[in-house]
Amino acid sequence: MSISLSPCPLPQAGEGDDVSLREFYIKDIDMSYYEKHVFFCTNVREDGGPCCTQHGAQEMRDYAKKRIKALDLNGAGKIRINSAGCLDRCDEGPVLVVYPEAVWYTYVDQADIDEIVDQHLVKGKVVERLKI
Ligand code: FES
Repeated sequence: MSISLSPCPLPQAGEGDDVSLREFYIKDIDMSYYEKHVFFCTNVREDGGPCCTQHGAQEMRDYAKKRIKALDLNGAGKIRINSAGCLDRCDEGPVLVVYPEAVWYTYVDQADIDEIVDQHLVKGKVVERLKI
């Protein structure tokens, strides 16, 4: 079975009323609902293999969420902290990833989470020592 994808072109400028539709779509594409979206793997592997939850991932995710809320950085246009299933980097865990930058981190404790929040999420500086 083959699947063919056909392009779905946006209306081009100069096509009359379609211009406003094109601008609408481009605006929609450029805007992100959250400025930064953080995914903590909180997966538990049923086979007993290494997983992020063995390293306190759920507690660190809860801590990050409370910290972001305390800083009033949660909500639309700001920062969202989410749980995620396995992100397939189990041996490097615990892991989290920050979008839209797609920067991956590991962490050990609350001090590491504080550094990711304060440096990356607030100041936009990647924390190189925790990056994976
Ligand atoms: S269990 Fe966390 S990346 Fe797989």
